Amino acid sequence: MGDHFFGRFPALRMRRLRQLPQVRRLVAEVTISPKNLILPLFVRPGKGIREPITSMPGHCQLSPDQLAEEAREAQKLGLGGILLFGIPEYKDPRGSSALREHGIIPQAIAACKEAASELLVITDLCFCEYTDHGHCGVLGSIGRSGQWTVDNDATLAELGHQAVVHARAGSDVIAPSGMMDGMVRTIRVALDAEGFSHVPILSYAAKYASSLYGPFRLAAECAPQFGDRRGYQMDPASDVGQALREVALDLEEGADMIMVKPALPYLDIIRVVRDHFPGVPIAAYQVSGEYSMLKAAAGNGWLEEKAVVVELLTCIRRAGATMIISYWAKEAASFL
Ligand code: PBG
Ligand code: ZN
Repeated sequence: MGDHFFGRFPALRMRRLRQLPQVRRLVAEVTISPKNLILPLFVRPGKGIREPITSMPGHCQLSPDQLAEEAREAQKLGLGGILLFGIPEYKDPRGSSALREHGIIPQAIAACKEAASELLVITDLCFCEYTDHGHCGVLGSIGRSGQWTVDNDATLAELGHQAVVHARAGSDVIAPSGMMDGMVRTIRVALDAEGFSHVPILSYAAKYASSLYGPFRLAAECAPQFGDRRGYQMDPASDVGQALREVALDLEEGADMIMVKPALPYLDIIRVVRDHFPGVPIAAYQVSGEYSMLKAAAGNGWLEEKAVVVELLTCIRRAGATMIISYWAKEAASFL
């Protein structure tokens, strides 16, 4: 007997559990199902509109009636939900069209609820699609430099107002994405005061200033007209501890679920957050750049799209994401 049985080669052979597909399946831990997937959709005013988004093949800007079709399909596929982004009829410095009672998001929610009453409707809460300068809130100048940036506290009141507009229109979950300090607390207080204490908040807690948002900004027509978002979104080079502080703060302020964004290059953040905050549902946002990169490679025949998508989603789940916001949600649900 001797050495042969001491838990190493040749007695130990890791390949044994890989040989049969049935055994591989038996021991696999990580699962993805349609209920874990959330589909982002872009809605704009009008009727019968399906304006293809060139930077994101397969996605369109949709008018509410067309959005309804997507919602119906999403419900049929058993998706976890949809995440709505509005493109308004007009933009101004304060983003006032985001506060209209019958603005684009309220119209969109109504269309989805009518077409697919069981489908979870999450609404992104920010101002960048509604401001003419493309920043995520009201501008102000700070300090002696007089540099223009988003005025945090002036933006908070507006965010509370926008959250109530979404909740009144029937949004099931409010997802603030602007990375303003104190935004979760302000939104929670505003919702509770108006009788919406039952509406959960999914906070974009660890949102990085990523160059991978490029295709989205074309899709949602929300690229900043000057400067960038590094003054409010997180620095990719910051220590993971900063992400933990962001998450801890948002949870203290009343966030029910938190998001890490982007997903693939930030799997370390997902894992650390998961380990530090057991029991907190984590959403990972597989962003537009992650989508477009693979679409381009697949279009050239360089990568096999379906296989890569399943692998990416699996790895994001393995890192610790409870749910994944993905532009592939529909396709993935149909082939999973
Ligand atoms: C707006 C917002 C952005 C994304 C989601 N909400 C863009 C940004 O912050 O510039 C990016 C989503 C994507 O790239 O898929 N606050
Ligand atoms: Zn924004």
